[in-house]
Amino acid sequence: MEKSLESAAYLTAEAHVRDRAAIFHRQWLCAGREEDMPAPGDHKVLDVAGESVIVVRGKEGALHAHYNVCRHRGARMCDATSDARWGVTLDAGVVGRTMIRCPYHGWSYALDGRLLAAPQLQDTPGFDKSQFPLHPVGVQSWGGFIFLNLSPDTAPDFAAGLADPARRLGNYPLADLVTARTIRYELNANWKLILENYNECYHCPGVHPELTAIVPAFRTRGGIDLDWEAGIPHREGAVTYTWDGTTRRAPFPGLSEEEKVRHKGELIYPNLMLSVSCDHAAAFLLWPLAADRTLIECRFLFHPDEVAKADFDPSDAVDFWDLVNRQDWAVCERVQSGIAARVHTHGYYAPIEDLSLDIRRYIEGCGEP
Ligand code: FES
Ligand code: FE
Repeated sequence: MEKSLESAAYLTAEAHVRDRAAIFHRQWLCAGREEDMPAPGDHKVLDVAGESVIVVRGKEGALHAHYNVCRHRGARMCDATSDARWGVTLDAGVVGRTMIRCPYHGWSYALDGRLLAAPQLQDTPGFDKSQFPLHPVGVQSWGGFIFLNLSPDTAPDFAAGLADPARRLGNYPLADLVTARTIRYELNANWKLILENYNECYHCPGVHPELTAIVPAFRTRGGIDLDWEAGIPHREGAVTYTWDGTTRRAPFPGLSEEEKVRHKGELIYPNLMLSVSCDHAAAFLLWPLAADRTLIECRFLFHPDEVAKADFDPSDAVDFWDLVNRQDWAVCERVQSGIAARVHTHGYYAPIEDLSLDIRRYIEGCGEP
């Protein structure tokens, strides 16, 4: 059997630093949804792998992302809470929805990052505003998801990286969907354990009795021969991930007859797990906080026509998922504490866990920090 990653990769502060440098500071990361910032001037300040990033929708509707640091002396510009701590309010951040203003000496930047004005320096000989734009963060979107890259000059090709999932999910109207519910989970587990667990169904018969009742294929063919291209069939009469596998919601427009009764799942490395049914999608955004701690933002997406109905209620899907999620998080935390045993240097991937090996391939493909 193939060996898993060595235990230290999930346990040590060095491994966390390495993952940040080699992966999270270089790769495209899913950071939210376009629906979070619909109008020009809408913005968010995000912690992206330890870096503060301003994401803002510009005048023309395009998204921009910048490191949240002023080019003058390095003040953090947008932060809803920092001034409140001192009992003062400074004119800071995204001002009037048209510019980003540093609260220290008042340098102001366009939403696309160009330096617009530096008080009293405008006419200083040799001062060239064009030399001081905000440090850029790469920003792209796909399926309504926003992706950021902290090293835009060396970022891998965005479209090429998403080609396979985009093809498999081509019929799903992901960009149109809206978030009806969000659950945040904080796990005492390394982010790689969570991806490995998502990638195999070997654990499903024992851990997910409710899920395998709806999707018997997870019980009987725990992984290796599941056809994720075509999607995974439910039991007879079931079409989606709810308590009884049925729904009153209409299937998404555009799905094939097969997609109306099957389930698809994608792992978009390194931090988006996406599961889609005919009537909803569950998106999991992972943020490693430490070697043994991961924040997961789980969003439940539905078609806006369904959300607009007076009797719309996502609970049948959300509550079902929440149970399945907590079952998964419990086993992930169990592995995190188990692998700390001094005698355990690595585990094994059974052949049935074919996709778990992907994490090794992926990490090797990302190269050294
Ligand atoms: Fe921002 Fe001086 S540090 S204007
Ligand atoms: Fe699971």
